Amino acid sequence: MEAFQTQGIKLPRLGLGTYRMQGDVCRAAVESGLALGYRHIDTAEMYSNEDAIGAAIASSGVPRSELHVTTKVWNENLTPDAMRRVFDASLKKLRLDVVDLYLVHWPKEGMHLPSMFETLMKLKEERRARAIGVANFNIALLKTVVEELKAPIACNQIEYHVMLDQSKVKKYMDSKSIPLVAYCPLAQGRAASDETLVAIGKKHNASAAQVALRWLLDQDGVAAIPKASRRESQQANLDALKVELDDDDRRKIAALPKNQRFVSPGFAPAWD
Ligand SMILES: NC(=O)c1ccc[n+]([C@@H]2O[C@H](COP(=O)([O-])OP(=O)(O)OC[C@H]3O[C@@H](n4cnc5c(N)ncnc54)[C@H](OP(=O)(O)O)[C@@H]3O)[C@@H](O)[C@H]2O)c1
Repeated sequence: MEAFQTQGIKLPRLGLGTYRMQGDVCRAAVESGLALGYRHIDTAEMYSNEDAIGAAIASSGVPRSELHVTTKVWNENLTPDAMRRVFDASLKKLRLDVVDLYLVHWPKEGMHLPSMFETLMKLKEERRARAIGVANFNIALLKTVVEELKAPIACNQIEYHVMLDQSKVKKYMDSKSIPLVAYCPLAQGRAASDETLVAIGKKHNASAAQVALRWLLDQDGVAAIPKASRRESQQANLDALKVELDDDDRRKIAALPKNQRFVSPGFAPAWD
């Protein structure tokens, strides 16, 4: 699997999302994903599935050194003490000594960025998080973290798919060599029935979902973490890497409306 080098870690460009899967369903999905060859698993304290993922990893037989696991601290736990407490709990549930990437899941009004990143950097120094990063950070927040705090962030995980323009934040991230990890890369499944993508897919003997993933993975500095509970969909998403889009396909995808954001809680920051 193709991977980025970022802040000392190797981040596979296609990962398995796990939001809204818990318990045995999550365990089975992650076991199946690992058996098919996924080596990047995305979870979060907030998903309440780290225990199921820990069980799946333990039973998979995949060497730890081949596996990348991302987890995240929820925004109710951004004080240093709380962050350490939930970090310890995440590691324990995942049955790991070290997590590959630890992200701030969502910014929160009034959060104290210097103490948050000091805590994250200590976790990195202690070699319990191999790298640290953020999710849902806009340009202003990224500037503070990167330019003022000089935090070595390995990615910004944000919503990105064929129906949403993220060019402004991506331009800033590219200028600082920060990879974009695209969440909701299938627009929460909507991409699978988009008529334009279906037509492009027919031309290449591929599905609309595969076209949507390929479009993301064709872009420098972009990784994607589609969630798929079914083995067939997991395999199809891996096979998206075999699809080849041409300029005409890319023109058609560029012309799709790109103003649809599907994840936007009330406390989301202004984006530009
Ligand atoms: N950092 C953040 O704030 C944040 C926010 C949201 C999500 N995330 C992460 O990003 C991951 C992905 O986002 P998401 O789960 O919201 O949406 P998504 O990956 O865009 O879409 C998932 C949906 O697409 C379906 N699907 C998967 N592969 C398919 C295929 N090949 N053909 C047709 N349908 C397919 C899934 O089906 P099934 O239901 O059958 O599995 C599911 O309904 C999450 O699971 C989570 O790990 C992070």
